[in-house]
Amino acid sequence: MLKTKELTKTFSRQSQTFAAVDHVDFSINGGDFCVITGPSGCGKSTFFHLICGITRGDDGEILFDREAIHTYSDKQLAQLRATKISYIMQGDSLLPNFTVLENICLPHQLSGFGDELEEKAMELLREFGLENMAHEYPSNLSGGERRRVAIARAFVHEPKLVVADEPTSDLDEENTAIILDHFQRQAKSGKAILVSTHDMSCLRPGVIHYVMRKGVIRKA
Ligand SMILES: Nc1ncnc2c1ncn2[C@@H]1O[C@H](COP(=O)(O)OP(=O)(O)OP(=O)(O)O)[C@@H](O)[C@H]1O
Ligand SMILES: [Mg+2]
Repeated sequence: MLKTKELTKTFSRQSQTFAAVDHVDFSINGGDFCVITGPSGCGKSTFFHLICGITRGDDGEILFDREAIHTYSDKQLAQLRATKISYIMQGDSLLPNFTVLENICLPHQLSGFGDELEEKAMELLREFGLENMAHEYPSNLSGGERRRVAIARAFVHEPKLVVADEPTSDLDEENTAIILDHFQRQAKSGKAILVSTHDMSCLRPGVIHYVMRKGVIRKA
């Protein structure tokens, strides 16, 4: 489904240039649940920004369903993120002036999805133990609750690929298990799930484990 060839991103700091992502060849298919671990600063988030089209690489290719998306315009990339590739960013990403349910549905409704999303959103909230929070505002939720809302938002419109940057970092063991169960089920039903984490409980049987070091990704 998604393939990178020699994907490279360099940054400069104090007149030194370094490759945060260094000639990475990576692929993920529908049905795969891939987990990338690696020390802080090794390039995981930078890699995710590249494959979701949030930043552009300096070199290399990104193919999604055999299309060269590294050649896409910003508008085409935004459209791809609105429909087929979902990105769950590291940290807080909810809109403070909208309720939980609005946060999950509105961004997708703005890009053309209909009211049917609300039923699916309520289903996800139930699955994640948040059914009573649909009409709350994010500031009344805990960090872990907000994180689960962001995960619901990423799945509600049935994308093909979900890219999640440290999705369990705010979660206790029980909720981590609920989210990992969800990821595994979604992969079984044909989606591709790509996660970065420092949380070794993500390395469940069946997960494809990669390790990233200094911009380079290798199978564990
Ligand atoms: N915009 C930027 N300009 C310069 N350097 C950057 C920029 N963004 C990231 N970096 C550097 O690139 C390297 C990779 O950063 P990245 O955020 O991808 O790491 P990470 O593996 O996600 O780390 P963590 O586990 O802490 O989230 C780091 O050395 C970081 O300081
Ligand atoms: Mg990161």
